Amino acid sequence: MKHILIAGISGAIGHALAEHYLGRDQQLQIIGLCRDPAAVSFDPAVADRVSLVPWDAASSTDPGETGSEIARVLAAEKGLDLVIYAAGFLHGAGIQPEKRLEDLNAEALAHAFAVNATGFAILMRAIAPWLRHRRFKIVAAVSAKVGSIEDNGFGGWYAYRSSKAALNMLVRNLSVELPRKCRPLACVAVHPGTTLSPLSEPFSRSLAQLKVHQPAETAENIATVLEGLTEDSNGQFLSWDGSQIPW
Ligand SMILES: NC(=O)c1ccc[n+]([C@@H]2O[C@H](COP(=O)([O-])OP(=O)(O)OC[C@H]3O[C@@H](n4cnc5c(N)ncnc54)[C@H](OP(=O)(O)O)[C@@H]3O)[C@@H](O)[C@H]2O)c1
Repeated sequence: MKHILIAGISGAIGHALAEHYLGRDQQLQIIGLCRDPAAVSFDPAVADRVSLVPWDAASSTDPGETGSEIARVLAAEKGLDLVIYAAGFLHGAGIQPEKRLEDLNAEALAHAFAVNATGFAILMRAIAPWLRHRRFKIVAAVSAKVGSIEDNGFGGWYAYRSSKAALNMLVRNLSVELPRKCRPLACVAVHPGTTLSPLSEPFSRSLAQLKVHQPAETAENIATVLEGLTEDSNGQFLSWDGSQIPW
């Protein structure tokens, strides 16, 4: 049986990815991390293959505790074949993406870093024992093209951009270290493409000029990209269409 862990399974993209994989492979089990498991549901035909684990990227800062929670539903020896970090924060609780320097705020920056970057780092530390098996495995962090330093010609969105750039650096660092103990593996950052979700919803007017995907389409796009990965893909920043994005 294949085991997939999705952090942020309550989100539009995380949930659509879970549905995608559950629908295509009757033999897989999903471990879904989210703040409120009671708010997440699946079709009864597949729901018994999903184990939900309470987790908050901003406050689950003890890797040992997170590891113990995950161990209740999957023993480390069984291993994870795919890890997707689909949690992310752009706006909420009075925080909006900054248009200019005057909008910068320490609390907003700290929260964006906590959810978009630190949460991933601590989770990876927690699940390292699940990655030691000999099968090919993938770690995919859902990042964002706006986190590309080279691509940034527009500015703004300080907290989101810089926290996604930090996430990208974590991916790159892990791509160097993980193969030492967890080979064969590919650790990548993935830009999902603009997708209809609560995260993108406030920007729907400006999104009108862009190609906007439904979450199910995005899940299919990401799954196709991940399917094509090999050990040679380790350390890449990939877009939803498989093209490479400069870091
Ligand atoms: N939508 C786009 O156009 C787009 C474009 C580029 C990149 N992305 C990235 O894609 C990923 C998924 O976003 P989405 O579009 O699916 O948005 P979404 O539906 O708003 O999902 C966001 C997810 O992040 C979780 N989250 C937020 N704060 C959290 C916290 N403190 N602890 C744990 N989980 C937390 C949410 O959990 P709750 O349900 O508990 O709030 C939810 O599962 C994000 O990383 C986002 O940056 C999206």
